[in-house]
Amino acid sequence: MTYEVTLIPGDGIGPEITAATVKALEATGVRFSWDRQLGGMAAVQAKGTPIPDETLDSIRKRRIALKGPLTTPVGSGFRSVNVALRREFELFANLRPAKTIIPGRYDKIDIVLVRENLEGFYTGLEHWIALADDPRAAGVSTGVTTRQGCDRILRYAFEYALRRGRKKVTIVHKANILKMVSGLFLEVGRVVAEEYKGRVESNEMIVDNCAMQIVLRPEQFDVIVTTNLFGDILSDEISGLVGGLGLAPGANIGTTASIFEAVHGSAPDIAGKGIANPAAQMLAGAMMLDHLGEIDAAGRLRQALFDTIITDGIRTNDLGGHASTQQFGDQVAARSRA
Ligand SMILES: NC(=O)c1ccc[n+]([C@@H]2O[C@H](COP(=O)([O-])OP(=O)(O)OC[C@H]3O[C@@H](n4cnc5c(N)ncnc54)[C@H](O)[C@@H]3O)[C@@H](O)[C@H]2O)c1
Repeated sequence: MTYEVTLIPGDGIGPEITAATVKALEATGVRFSWDRQLGGMAAVQAKGTPIPDETLDSIRKRRIALKGPLTTPVGSGFRSVNVALRREFELFANLRPAKTIIPGRYDKIDIVLVRENLEGFYTGLEHWIALADDPRAAGVSTGVTTRQGCDRILRYAFEYALRRGRKKVTIVHKANILKMVSGLFLEVGRVVAEEYKGRVESNEMIVDNCAMQIVLRPEQFDVIVTTNLFGDILSDEISGLVGGLGLAPGANIGTTASIFEAVHGSAPDIAGKGIANPAAQMLAGAMMLDHLGEIDAAGRLRQALFDTIITDGIRTNDLGGHASTQQFGDQVAARSRA
């Protein structure tokens, strides 16, 4: 069987790390037909829009995409393409696993963060308030959570824990202060947790305490489920426990499509130098293989990556090595072969 997948190389280091990832994925023996499409700055330059219709049509048809990072201008310009894609395809769950590859300050970390991907403060409901001669005297952003949205993500997290044999789900919130936008999430979380009682253990934690506990005693966490903004921040924090963004993959899961990507951005500071670490993008590729039911190939790709880093000691600059993106990628591909 050949899987049809939309491939968006993306901006900055995107084309370099997706090329290495495609090579490693194909080396597993799984057959792919890639439909290459543009997104982000690359699309603006070529087609005058950050998300061309062809890209959306391709994802709509194939229902699965592997995406490199996309550049979003800070403060002004077009809104995040990533946020737009999440909305277009209702990619409600953002899955971000962090697992130790290189033992360092922490070892044996194995945490999966499930982030609500559509609501909260990412709804784009924003406006300026003008006062006297200052048109931007105040900025207002409205956060929205719905009962349906909370229920969907919380159920997804508990179901994920159950299916993957995970022990505990921690519901992270700020209901003490944000009594509605976060209070509703906790209220629904308690209902869902009760339904899973006896099958999945659960607890609840306020987000600021959670941020500290992740650093202090990370071994207490298994699956974390939280709202959009908190999930965005905490997922970067857990990636820091396992060696940083270069090793952190993510999956955006929806009902009509799913998009797999690295957690990190387009890294313009190192783009085009051939030194970016493709590991996070490759791990996102492994999540895609899992999603397709290609469990054996996914396991082989993860093992190949582990062996390349640990046994062969081949590492990119961000992990203290001197390997280029291509050298690292070629070794993972060589080890991934069936
Ligand atoms: N999913 C996405 O598409 C996504 C996610 C985050 C940021 N962005 C965008 O990326 C752009 C740059 O953002 P930023 O600089 O805040 O974050 P970034 O993740 O691109 O870079 C942060 C730091 O980590 C390093 N880094 C990131 N990925 C690396 C890799 N694979 N190998 C080695 N080093 C790596 C960079 O060199 C930089 O020093 C922005 O336009 C932002 O909007 C996109």
